[in-house]
Amino acid sequence: CGIVGYAGSRPALNIVVDGLRRLEYRGYDSAGVAILAGEGELVTEKRAGKLANLEKALADDTATGLAQGVTGIGHTRWATHGGPTDRNAHPHRSADGRVAVIHNGILENFARLRAELEAEGIEFTSETDTECAAHLLAAELRHLGSFDGDPAERLAEAMRRVCRRLEGAFTLLAVDSQAPGAVVGARRNSPLVVGCGETENYLASDVSAFIEHTRDAIELGQDQVVLITPAGVSVTDFHGTVVEGTRFHIDWDASAAEKGGYDYFMAKEIDEQPRAVADTLLGRHTENGDLALDEVRLTDQDLRDVDKVFIVACGTAYHAGMVAKYAIEHWVRIPCEVELASEFRYRDPVLDRSTLVVAISQSGETMDTLMALRHAKEQKARVLAICNTNGSTIPRESDAVLYTHCGPEIAVASTKAFLTQLVACYLVGLHLAQVRGVMYADEVGNVLAQLQDMPAKIQTVLDGMEPVRELARDLADSKSVLFIGRHVGYPVALEGALKLKELAYMHAEGFAAGELKHGPIALIEPGTPVVCVVPSARGRGVLNDKIVSNIQEVRARGARTIVIAEEGDDAVAPFADHLIYVPRTPTLLAPLVTTVPLQVLAGEIATARGNDVDQPRNLAKSVTVE
Ligand code: G6P
Repeated sequence: CGIVGYAGSRPALNIVVDGLRRLEYRGYDSAGVAILAGEGELVTEKRAGKLANLEKALADDTATGLAQGVTGIGHTRWATHGGPTDRNAHPHRSADGRVAVIHNGILENFARLRAELEAEGIEFTSETDTECAAHLLAAELRHLGSFDGDPAERLAEAMRRVCRRLEGAFTLLAVDSQAPGAVVGARRNSPLVVGCGETENYLASDVSAFIEHTRDAIELGQDQVVLITPAGVSVTDFHGTVVEGTRFHIDWDASAAEKGGYDYFMAKEIDEQPRAVADTLLGRHTENGDLALDEVRLTDQDLRDVDKVFIVACGTAYHAGMVAKYAIEHWVRIPCEVELASEFRYRDPVLDRSTLVVAISQSGETMDTLMALRHAKEQKARVLAICNTNGSTIPRESDAVLYTHCGPEIAVASTKAFLTQLVACYLVGLHLAQVRGVMYADEVGNVLAQLQDMPAKIQTVLDGMEPVRELARDLADSKSVLFIGRHVGYPVALEGALKLKELAYMHAEGFAAGELKHGPIALIEPGTPVVCVVPSARGRGVLNDKIVSNIQEVRARGARTIVIAEEGDDAVAPFADHLIYVPRTPTLLAPLVTTVPLQVLAGEIATARGNDVDQPRNLAKSVTVE
């Protein structure tokens, strides 16, 4: 879910709604705001569906003070407890109407809390876990009624008391009609950052919500409560001890979070890939030619002691991890496993001090990945994060970090983050190989030089995408599309299928081409489109021969073959109904070019089917629940 809070001197409503628009990628099942309209008046408005529905309702709302109030909170939801209805939308009010609360996460002890509150006679108006927090907060405020001093401080104290009773993961924001000018926030496991202005302050799930107003931000730690007013920011732990938040400066260009003439963000982000890859490679060398990670709290000796690598990630990032396995095992010569983060800790994996766990996450907030990381740390493994978001939880809790520099990725389906995750994985592999003395500096230098050539090659692919767009329109009515690949082309096939599912809501499956004959080939009917990701005919030529046979197998059963192959690979041409050439690339690096046509294909099919490319149904970009 996306969360915004504002306490300042300007009308809060516009600032909150603008912030929500920038956070809508985090969830768009429903949206709502609560504005402190002065004189003890608290106005809320909320609607099921996208933010546009809320905006329509707000335009018709004549509640006095709504447009003038200078303190407010807003929420855009990805439903967990209770369907996406008006009633379940946030904010939730306490029974006495005094407070409004918004929440991201899951309150695990909510059933018990709800039963307790109901026994006290409170009637719930929604099915959400969040509503408990609103009633509890109002009760604590009542208990603190005679609290002398600042009403804002009273609200913060009430929030701390509530937090001590909550289990699970949460970010909570609340306003109290009797504490004008104050917004209180709390965080455990879910993201929350503070934006600091001159006479105004912000709270949000991520910096994009307030980047147009301020570049000064504060990171919050675990189990902290933050109070913002126009005059300042104060942070404590759940027991009231004052803590110093870590200040940081946001160097993202605000326009990077705008569409800049494109119909949708994903198209822009696909086009930004050459730049994103170049930026991720930039400045990775120290003066003596060594590779430099961003934040390293590991020694070279620690890395020499590593005898096994585990990569944990979800969704698209998991596919980047699969590619990394091929590169790391080939270059570093130590075993590398890749695992879905959501499965990892429940399987009791074998980990110890000499295991390196690499957590890949664009957002740095994915709960499944975070929990896998924490499990790894408990088992004494070293953890390295590959992440795109400065100041997010996963890099903060890791022993070392390599940031992907692709700028903000807004579209829910990941594109440029994926390519830069690949680059980061290659860099980690090369760094390990170099530190461990398995590759000489000049060998590493060769691969780095090949990586430096990739932005131009990606640009060449992008410049030739018109036939793919045409093909997409032609495939828009297909029932199902299959993707096959071998070696690093296998994760690319999985990623191509995932993109199509996410964006086009079309049945799509990716397979290892060699596995097809062991079952999935039964799916092929006359005309079934099969996208084949073909490895280079040079280098690992034998794989090329094998996949050519696989293409023939599907074609013999009537499949319509769409072949992605390297320029000059004539062997595949006779079996391709549609042939898409990509520039010649060393085998391990090929996913940087072969993925691109699959991203374009999925985006165009989705457009042809009339889908919302940036905000596909049921999904959220950053899933902060397990
Ligand atoms: C969500 C998104 C996916 C993304 C995955 C992992 O499910 O919809 O596009 O790949 O999370 O996100 P992360 O931020 O950890 O890379």
